[in-house]
Amino acid sequence: MDNKQRPPKEKGGELPNEVRIELAKTAGFCFGVDRAVRMTTDLLRAGKKVATLGPLIHNPQVIRLLEEQGAKAVSCPAEVELDSVAVIRSHGVAPQVRGELEQRGVEIVDATCPYVQKIHKIAQNSAREGKILLLAGDAGHPEVQGIAGQAPGVTFIFSSAEELGDILEGIEQARPIVAVAQTTFAVDEWAECVRLIKKVCTNSEVFDTICKATQARQKETEELSRRSDLVIVIGGNGSSNTRKLYHVAAAHTRAVQVEDAVQLKGIDLGGVCAIGITAGASTPSSAIEEVRTTMSDQIHEGEKSFEEMLDDSMKPVYAGQVVKGVVVAVSTNDITVDIGTKHTGIVKLEEWTDDPAVRSAEEVAKRDEEVDLVVVKVNDQDGIVQLSKRQMEAKKGAIEVEKAAEEGTVMDGYVTESNKGGLVANVKGVKVFIPASQATARRGEDYTALVRQHVKLKIKEYSPRRTIGSIREVLAEEQNAVREKFWNEVEVGKKYIGTVKSLTNYGAFVDIGGVDGLVHISELSWSRIKHPSEVVQVGDTIEVYVKDLDMENHKVSLGYKKQEDNPWEKLKTEYPIGSVFTAPVVSITQFGAFVRILPGIDGLVHISEISHERVEKVADALKVGDEVEVKLLDVDFDRKRISLSMKALLPEPEKDQPRTGEDEVVASASEEETTVAPEITAEMEAEPEEEQQPAPAEEEPAGEPDEAQAPEEAPQPVEDEVPGAEAEEGTEEETES
Ligand code: F3S
Repeated sequence: MDNKQRPPKEKGGELPNEVRIELAKTAGFCFGVDRAVRMTTDLLRAGKKVATLGPLIHNPQVIRLLEEQGAKAVSCPAEVELDSVAVIRSHGVAPQVRGELEQRGVEIVDATCPYVQKIHKIAQNSAREGKILLLAGDAGHPEVQGIAGQAPGVTFIFSSAEELGDILEGIEQARPIVAVAQTTFAVDEWAECVRLIKKVCTNSEVFDTICKATQARQKETEELSRRSDLVIVIGGNGSSNTRKLYHVAAAHTRAVQVEDAVQLKGIDLGGVCAIGITAGASTPSSAIEEVRTTMSDQIHEGEKSFEEMLDDSMKPVYAGQVVKGVVVAVSTNDITVDIGTKHTGIVKLEEWTDDPAVRSAEEVAKRDEEVDLVVVKVNDQDGIVQLSKRQMEAKKGAIEVEKAAEEGTVMDGYVTESNKGGLVANVKGVKVFIPASQATARRGEDYTALVRQHVKLKIKEYSPRRTIGSIREVLAEEQNAVREKFWNEVEVGKKYIGTVKSLTNYGAFVDIGGVDGLVHISELSWSRIKHPSEVVQVGDTIEVYVKDLDMENHKVSLGYKKQEDNPWEKLKTEYPIGSVFTAPVVSITQFGAFVRILPGIDGLVHISEISHERVEKVADALKVGDEVEVKLLDVDFDRKRISLSMKALLPEPEKDQPRTGEDEVVASASEEETTVAPEITAEMEAEPEEEQQPAPAEEEPAGEPDEAQAPEEAPQPVEDEVPGAEAEEGTEEETES
């Protein structure tokens, strides 16, 4: 509609040099409409079937978009299918409508604007208290019908002060009255109504229920129209607040109401210096931007007629076409883009990004941002083009992925799901399948933990239908690189912090950064141990050093026990020759008893050093566990043998009186027996009376476990130097450790 307050200028007239376009700050979705649209799209995204009780908002473009997403507008509760969610729009409904829905057992989502809900409460209270409800508004408007339904039988509806005057004539002056207005009622008209009520009724309560957003919009429209040559009001023909805005603007300047940019065709802009644009509460930002851009283009292409410009701009756009777009508006659920034609380009949030964590388009899109897009659908009737950034990225990504498959390039991917066969990853917008055997470094490992993780992978096979990737190949290459670096840098004596990977009877395999080395059991402890688990456990982090290297066969021998813990060093400093101490007997042999001096070091008390008296059998004098006082006679550090004596701490027996010749012969023989140790034979050693022998060393396997490196000739374990072994060459001074 175009008002007649100013004569229309000649069509296609000259445009002034500078034309100002001013967009009202309050133009577009109000809080209540935005809330209702958001609640509905959330339901649709959640896969619900949605039925709205009447069109959700008064805007055909938005309604069409919602329909495309699966929302259906119905005219009454009976039309709501039982498997649908019924959405009550921002206007609200009468209690009986809601009751019908409840009776049918339909799920209800109530998007009634909170401001409207407030009026419902006032109306309910007024009815409960037997008061008359005066309701200013359009009797045919659903919001007004919804409010009237809260107070049936005692409500009078009027659309102007004049109509109100007629109503008041039939009401007793003193009757209690409550007055409210439709949220979008004209502010000036309401002021007139209030004045009348106050004048006529002596017992009235008036509530200011016109929505503040409506008031602000009408006020700004009035101000805008005072400084504009033309005001364009954008909004659906069924929108009450849009119509009011039109009337407000038309009272001060030339005003035009349009639903979209296409309806701008034919409007004469000749002589217009200032254009104001405002929009109703149901008008989406995309429609506003479309109109603004069209006006702006016309001004900047002033030499062309507006008709020509529109024709030019309606260039054919087709599905699958790649276009460049500039973001002109961003709302919660979609992004409006200018694609260089007069079509309004819309990118739904889910077509902008596939990141489910993004809840609003405002998080990811910026105004004036330039983007490449693919046309998904064209609606020439509405001039709307559905676009997709995601599909564009997938298109570009497919080219990159194909190239990566040819060149063996490592790509970044995001694992989106796992299944029995393997993983699915998104690589540059392309779905890539990673078989289970290619998902981890070793077959059989759990790969499900990679879901929602970023991974590096190689594309093994690409086709538009099926793309195969491998994470394993990347891991293997990384592992090889680590190993190569290790072998370039490793040297004997170098220390590493490693992780114990596995234990065997003969040692522990330790991962020292991509390479496994063997710590032989003899290198784990200075004490005699039967199994590596006495010192380390799988998973332990330990410090080791390289003892030996086999560069050719890539085997590493590691050391773990530290020199400072060597008990022989301790013995050297803490046990000087001649020192006396108490120690436990740990084993008995035919030739003497072994006493534990320190963990890992036993010394021998030879049978001849037990007592001044002749000892026939060691077991007659000592037993394992006895605590004995001994004197350190000698230490052979090279052969690791220690001689101890108990006898040296015992008082010398008193010398006998001079004997006869026969006696002397006998005495000499006895003396010799006590000072000369009996010869220790192999048999004696092989048959200890109570000796504690270590477990026999287990046979070491010829090969190494999978991928483990171990020295070919491991050092001999300490156990080899057990008491029995030294006894072969034993003398009375020989000891064992
Ligand atoms: Fe509510 Fe005001 Fe909009 S009443 S629906 S916020 S115009």
